[in-house]
Amino acid sequence: MEIIHTISELRSRLKVESLIVFVPTMGSLHAGHIDLMRVARERAGVGGCVIVSIFVNRLQFGPKEDFGKYPRTLSDDCDKCRAARVDVVFAPDESEMYPEPQTYLVEPSEIQHILEGAVRSGHYRGVATVVLKLFNMVQPQVAVFGKKDYQQCRVLDNMARQLNLPVEMLLAETVRADDGLALSSRNGYLSPNERTEAPQLSAALSAIKSALRKGERNFVALESHAQRTLMARGWLPDYIVIRRQSDLLPPSISDRALVVLAAARLGATRLIDNLEVSI
Ligand code: PAF
Repeated sequence: MEIIHTISELRSRLKVESLIVFVPTMGSLHAGHIDLMRVARERAGVGGCVIVSIFVNRLQFGPKEDFGKYPRTLSDDCDKCRAARVDVVFAPDESEMYPEPQTYLVEPSEIQHILEGAVRSGHYRGVATVVLKLFNMVQPQVAVFGKKDYQQCRVLDNMARQLNLPVEMLLAETVRADDGLALSSRNGYLSPNERTEAPQLSAALSAIKSALRKGERNFVALESHAQRTLMARGWLPDYIVIRRQSDLLPPSISDRALVVLAAARLGATRLIDNLEVSI
């Protein structure tokens, strides 16, 4: 596995490759990332090149989010990439990625202001901008993102389509523990009691999914029942909503491709999860 820090080295290393499968990350890699690398390795096959970028992107942090405190664990991360049979790690520093103030930005329209975007102003603009820059540097045929961050997947998938980027977006399924809890680095902050309670979030999403599948169409009633159920168990939900998969706006009765999204606090930990539903 090679570890590359500059764009010029990256370009000369990748120009011999005919299939590049790319997994962008901010490092601090956990089981969810390892699964994205497994998906990438599978897609690349023996002849393709799997590349992982590790870059903590200042542009997607809000003024109240501590960019400085984000864990930077490059050597550990590289060990994990090596074990996952990654071919190249691209780890540019700040001056390589942003040699001058980034005044040209990708604006993802309404979708950047709702749900997670409502509490993280500017976040998806920062994500879309850095991913477009990374795509231009790596020029992958395929890019892999995890559906655990569903809104991010939708923002980036819509960007690739609307800007005609020549990249196939491979959106990987969320990896779950046996009890249904979506894997996340935040699960590590849960106390033993909270860890026992945590699967109730995915249980609430599953209950909505099965009601929709049975023909229930009162979306508001389903959402507020789930909210009340979680609140009664001590959760503080930010949102539990049924949305259209395409743009994450509220569905009409004729929409068929739906997704249930939730964000809720359990003690001091904020968990997010989602479940796609086709009806
Ligand atoms: O999901 C992430 O880790 C980041 O948002 C991404 C896509 C690597 C952009 O910095």
